[in-house]
Amino acid sequence: MTLQKVTINTDFENFDLLKLVDQGGCSSKLPAAELAKALAGLPKVEDENLLVNIDTHDDAGVYKINDEQALVLTTDFFPPICSDPYDFGQISAANSLSDVYAMGGKVLTALNLVLFPANVPMTILKEILRGGHDKVTEAGGIIVGGHTIEDDIPKYGLAVTGTVHPDKFITNAGAKPGDILILTKPLGTGAIISAKKIDLAEDETYQKAIDTMKLLNDKGAEIMNEYSVKCATDITGFGLIGHALKMARGSEVSIKIKADSVPAIEKVIDLIDMGCIPGAAFRNLEFTSDDCLFENSVDYNHKMLLLDAQTSGGLLICTPAEKADEMVGKLRNSKYPEAAIVGVVTEKAEKAIIVH
Ligand code: CO
Ligand code: CO
Ligand code: CO
Repeated sequence: MTLQKVTINTDFENFDLLKLVDQGGCSSKLPAAELAKALAGLPKVEDENLLVNIDTHDDAGVYKINDEQALVLTTDFFPPICSDPYDFGQISAANSLSDVYAMGGKVLTALNLVLFPANVPMTILKEILRGGHDKVTEAGGIIVGGHTIEDDIPKYGLAVTGTVHPDKFITNAGAKPGDILILTKPLGTGAIISAKKIDLAEDETYQKAIDTMKLLNDKGAEIMNEYSVKCATDITGFGLIGHALKMARGSEVSIKIKADSVPAIEKVIDLIDMGCIPGAAFRNLEFTSDDCLFENSVDYNHKMLLLDAQTSGGLLICTPAEKADEMVGKLRNSKYPEAAIVGVVTEKAEKAIIVH
């Protein structure tokens, strides 16, 4: 990410956080292939109580405390993904909490992680922190502290501790041939935010992206537990295809995705058609291309939507086929009206992901 010269708008009434960044939210993750180089060869951490470590590229680490309880530990933080600081606080917190939900856990505590410029008033930071506080409270957790560093580009997120039963947590490694895949939130937040930066996104479309990102995955986790789901992940910076690929590899299966059944935020395809495709989508294309086949019937705009880096995206839930329709109904009636069946798990084939 290239650092821009930061010009501070002194009109703090209309302060726009998006003006401070090239790419915010989960788009600013390091490329997966590069990160792998840094992690390769680090000493392996072994501990009989460490039930999930970084080896499986899962959403969070899981550490067993006793026969009834394990901790779910995760952190995320990133530069602004939207204009308003209160929205940014809520979105970043919802995103950080999401990895606990992806593993079927409950949120317990969180720590604020703050990087903030010295020349921006503390009233802006206060709004970010208020947003974080409100989301953690909504999640039933509490913020117990944090840490701050001065930095030119603001960044905010949480280190989250959740709890889960040590025998019942959900991973990205339990998909079985014949299972059905459900996505709980529509795609397109990355493309819409890049459109917003160049004033191409209509207010309504932008607001829809903000609302989608603010939405907690808490009810999704509750419904997954109700149906004893074994395999799920949340969709963030690597896009639907990137996260589905991690699931396919982790589960040693292949996944077939039906492009036109994937829910999308209204008008996002038009924006992608106008060229609003953030760099992260091309990075995702690069790291998935060896193991992902897009059939000719899938047009370019839908392909890029499926690769679009999401911030605080939905859950990708894997369920036995006979429960799928009922689960989609429950998800839609809770707070994910656009939840939909998007694909199916097959025996391991030549490619891990096939999009048709
Ligand atoms: Co995740
Ligand atoms: Co994460
Ligand atoms: Co400290």
